[in-house]
Formats: sequence, structure tokens, C-alpha cells
Amino acid sequence: MKLIIANWKMNKLEAEIKEYFSAFKPRNCNSEIVFCPPFTYLYLLSQLTPYKLGAQNCFYEDSGAFTGEISPKMLKDLGVSYVIVGHSERRNLFKESNSVIKRKVLKVLEHDMIPIICFGESVRTVTRENRLKEIRAQVRGFKSLIKRSVLAYEPVWAIGSGISPTQDDVLEVTRYILEIEKPLALVYGGSVSENNCKEFAEVTDGLLVGGASLNPLNFQRICEKIEEIRAV
Ligand code: 13P
Repeated sequence: MKLIIANWKMNKLEAEIKEYFSAFKPRNCNSEIVFCPPFTYLYLLSQLTPYKLGAQNCFYEDSGAFTGEISPKMLKDLGVSYVIVGHSERRNLFKESNSVIKRKVLKVLEHDMIPIICFGESVRTVTRENRLKEIRAQVRGFKSLIKRSVLAYEPVWAIGSGISPTQDDVLEVTRYILEIEKPLALVYGGSVSENNCKEFAEVTDGLLVGGASLNPLNFQRICEKIEEIRAV
């Protein structure tokens, strides 16, 4: 069974979401499908769909004077199962450090949800050694937590660019992670489309899909195509 995660990022309004789920009807899909809408629509999705819920971020305290933040305890209360932590957009735009990300991971685990820890090199042209070195620096601090987490390999340069690594590159990174520790699942993200999804899902446990998950029919085709892998 593959894990297919839709990260909608900061997109969609209520009416669009209702329309989305009247169109999204994957056939013969045995994968675990997780939707990560903006916080404000988690409740709507919990009422509207049978799919697992994921949050795109969280804070690392349960409650208190942290204006504007959302705690893992609140997410758990909403029925959330997964929380994305350390997405490159959070690392880069909001300057989240590995130590902040680690506090978030610990809090998510404390509330019996599954962290989806994102990592990946920032530049495409980096050498193999430097790529693995950068990845090592990102995941090293999480070593003891990896086996309770989903790891998402998302090369920063592949996100939203329409450019993606080769299957061999992804395989090399999955092997490298497995040498460190075996996560609950290791998924690939970064310009996943219906054309390349099978390639990446063949060498991982699943996918983290951004842009291509915003259109219900595109995302449905991705979910259906993944099934063909097992049929082979
Ligand atoms: P894209 O699929 O749009 O490249 O986004 C990937 C991503 O960041 C998912 O978390």
C-alpha cells in the first residue's frame, strides 16, 4: 500500500473544496490518501471526505500565549492524523531551523499523530557527495524519531519547477536514508505529475504532491496510476 499525500499549500476556498470532492472519485485505489488543506478547511474536509487528514504545519506547545499559532493538541482534536513539518517553504520563508522542527516533531508524536518530515538538497547542480551531506545534516538530528515518522524527500529545486530528479537519484537517497534508519514510510515530492508518478512511487513508499493535487482529476489519475505498479 502506497501513501499519497496532497499538500494544497495556501490554496482553495470552501466552494472550490466542495466542487473538488464532487469530482474526486478514484477507482480501485488501495493507497492511503491524505489531504493537507489549509488549517481553516481541516474541519470541512473531516465532514466531507473519508480520507485521512494532514496539517501543513503546527507549533511546538500545547496552548498558551502564542498568537496566531496552532498546536498539535488542537489538530488531534480535529481528527488530524499527519502533520507536515520542516517543509522547505517553512525552512526558507519562515526561517525554521532543525531545532524548531525537532520540537514540532516531538509534539506531534506526543499527540499520537505522524510527522511528515521534509528534507532535500537546495541546488540541482550539487555533486552526489554534497547532496548526501546536505541531507545528512537535515535528518541527523531526527535519527531516534525517524522510525515513528514519514520522511519526505523533496529536493527544493524540484518543488513547483516542473523539473524533477531521475528515478536513480531518488533511489540513491532512499537507500541512504535506510542506512540511517527505516522510517514508517519514505515518500518523494517535487513536481510530481501523472506522467512521472509511477517512476517515483516504484522506488519509494509513496508521494507528496503539490500542484498536481489541486486539480481533482489530475490527482485522481495519480492515485489510479499508482495501482498499476502493483499490478505489474
Ligand atoms: P509541487 O508538486 O507543486 O512541486 O510541490 C511539491 C511540494 O512542495 C509538496 O509538499
